[in-house]
Amino acid sequence: MAFDIDMIKGFYESLPKKVEEARQTLGHPLTLAEKILYSHLHPESPLQKFNRGKDYVFFAPDRVAMQDATAQMALLQFMMCGRDKTAVPSTVHCDHLIQAEIGADTDLQKAKDVNSEVYQFLSSVSNKYGIGFWKPGAGIIHQIVLENYAFPGGMMIGTDSHTPNAGGLGMVAIGVGGADAVDVMAGMPWELKMPKLIGIKLTGKLNGWTSSKDVILKVAGVLTVKGGTGAIVEYFGPGARSMSCTGKGTICNMGAEIGATTSTFGYDDSMSRYLRATDRADVAELADQVAEHLTGDAECYENPEKYFDQVIEIDLSTLEPHINGPYTPDLAWPISKFAEAVKENNYPQKLEVGLIGSCTNSSYEDLDRAASLAKQAVAKKLKAKAEFTITPGSEQIRYTVQRDGQLTAFEEMGGVVLANACGPCIGQWARHTDDPTRANSIITSFNRNFSKRNDGNPQTRSFVASPEIVTALAIAGDLTFNPLTDKLKNEEGQDVMLDPPTGVELPAKGFSVEDAGFEAPAADGSGIEVKVDPTSDRIQLLTPFKPITSDQLKDMRVLIKAKGKCTTDHISMAGPWLKYRGHLQNISNNCFIGAINYFNGEANKVANYVDSATEAEYMAVPDSGLKYRDNGIGTVVFGEENYGEGSSREHAAMEPRFLGVKAVIVKSFARIHETNLKKQGMLGLTFVNPADYDKIRQDDHIDILGLDTMAPGKNLTVVAKHADGTEDKFEVAHTYNQAQISWVNAGSALNKIRQELGA
Ligand code: F3S
Repeated sequence: MAFDIDMIKGFYESLPKKVEEARQTLGHPLTLAEKILYSHLHPESPLQKFNRGKDYVFFAPDRVAMQDATAQMALLQFMMCGRDKTAVPSTVHCDHLIQAEIGADTDLQKAKDVNSEVYQFLSSVSNKYGIGFWKPGAGIIHQIVLENYAFPGGMMIGTDSHTPNAGGLGMVAIGVGGADAVDVMAGMPWELKMPKLIGIKLTGKLNGWTSSKDVILKVAGVLTVKGGTGAIVEYFGPGARSMSCTGKGTICNMGAEIGATTSTFGYDDSMSRYLRATDRADVAELADQVAEHLTGDAECYENPEKYFDQVIEIDLSTLEPHINGPYTPDLAWPISKFAEAVKENNYPQKLEVGLIGSCTNSSYEDLDRAASLAKQAVAKKLKAKAEFTITPGSEQIRYTVQRDGQLTAFEEMGGVVLANACGPCIGQWARHTDDPTRANSIITSFNRNFSKRNDGNPQTRSFVASPEIVTALAIAGDLTFNPLTDKLKNEEGQDVMLDPPTGVELPAKGFSVEDAGFEAPAADGSGIEVKVDPTSDRIQLLTPFKPITSDQLKDMRVLIKAKGKCTTDHISMAGPWLKYRGHLQNISNNCFIGAINYFNGEANKVANYVDSATEAEYMAVPDSGLKYRDNGIGTVVFGEENYGEGSSREHAAMEPRFLGVKAVIVKSFARIHETNLKKQGMLGLTFVNPADYDKIRQDDHIDILGLDTMAPGKNLTVVAKHADGTEDKFEVAHTYNQAQISWVNAGSALNKIRQELGA
């Protein structure tokens, strides 16, 4: 079930009718985003006019993609749901766990050794459940999806924030957490707030040094890192049609940097060309037949102000190359202003490393254009003054540019080719530096440049630009170099200029590859056993959670009353804990270690009363949780506003559940985390009167009354029994609907599916 042409055919056959029905229901012409969203409604959200930015809607995405760091817990959960195959085509991509240090071959081999049990686990689960498996070294999730799976008009989710890359092929592709992937793979509806719409009209044509990357660098400057929140960005206009499909992918990829739900482009010739070049002429032919439904209605693009919530116009003919950063991708500088900015802001002028490639910018066009500069450098007797690395996005790209000479050109310029993996883009970079405390500058063609993102060093100023500008600046070794106007001194002391880059969109001889790194799943996986070493500290099979019962809600203890902000990072810290993402027991040792205890103002130090009802014993939060749990005592977590904001990672709900927490009672929830608690069969409750938070004392015994008669909209009651014999009684509200209450009764949403499937 890795790629399903029949599914695409069926979808295209049904598309004209679905689009027309949606047009009638909404009563106006449709944008592309609306066509895709309304043609992917799940039966639980029947067709009606949904309010953008307000209504929550259930969708039925066409496929799921997972990267190796997030896939572990997603698949461990999926294995419990009782299905013998995923409900939609799904793939796993081993790209995040490979550290860049020496070069492609050595680094890849080392990663295979260090992560072997994780890779083995992901490979055998994929084989068993019909999931396409892309081995380490095969490439980066988003590049592989664009090359193999994305199709115009489709809808997919991926467990990585740059999943929108597939918008380059006209998809609505959205980055989510592992729990959402489990829902879709298990056949459950997937919920999303109906996005707002931002329209970006592109006129003119890219030329000279400017590339598609500069469009999104400019947009990031206009909209800032929050400007796209809750919105789909739809690009249209003659400029959009003049751009390559992979260039569109770059723009959509970095839509994540403005917080957009996703970004997309209407189907056009560039997409048809790309589909044919990547061996999918069948998809292109099918798409051609319904082309008018795979782009927005003409009226929406002629009068965009009427149909989009916000409209921006960019003229590609006059767009300058941009360099964005440091520390944030929306600090946008046109190149003509950048040298001044470097001096004014004291950014280290010496450029130490230039890095090209990654999921954002490793198309044939990107590498061909950058290589044209590398060739010029050699011909004009220029030596790259900065270190220079190249990260191909996939083995197919790497093989093709090796064959066509671009990689050789980079190597002749002094470049090092890294593995086809995320590497420095996600901080998997053992950078060699003589002095890590020195303020220093690097420039990448990646997408993110937050502090420490690439090399873990807060002293590194990381800038983002197109691969062409990165290559030119690496040759100069100087952040203030403007290749459009400045000369460089070559080895013979002559002043030379670099000509503007040139390159082709797609390889004239087609793409080739010897081993793309794909493992197709078994047609019948029923006989395949997923082996997990019980002594492994990386992977641990899950045991279904037992339902919480009303008797367990008596005489509970306070695990922690969290003070102030309590994000998913406070609940389940990232960083070094990333390694345990597939091992619930081990990762639970980070549970709440970042949260501040209201009673002593300290992190990871809470009172425990197992050994003495009156004498507090202070310990780490996970230890206290385990001690209560192993002594048969339930616990409650209390918190303040917007509890659980941040990432959608399900670990932040699974860990407390594992430690025996029965209920989380807060002033307000971040919605995704609240849903995650519900999915794990826990009680996520809110104070009806937020001041009741103040009534909780650390040595209280807590009762929650009303579980057996829990119903939508009906409050529960909390009794806080204090050590001095007094008690406080107050109401707590919840937002569980009937189906979600059945998750609590079953122990978790997955247990409920298991029951339904008779597992
Ligand atoms: Fe993400 Fe960069 Fe990999 S954006 S998918 S970490 S190449």
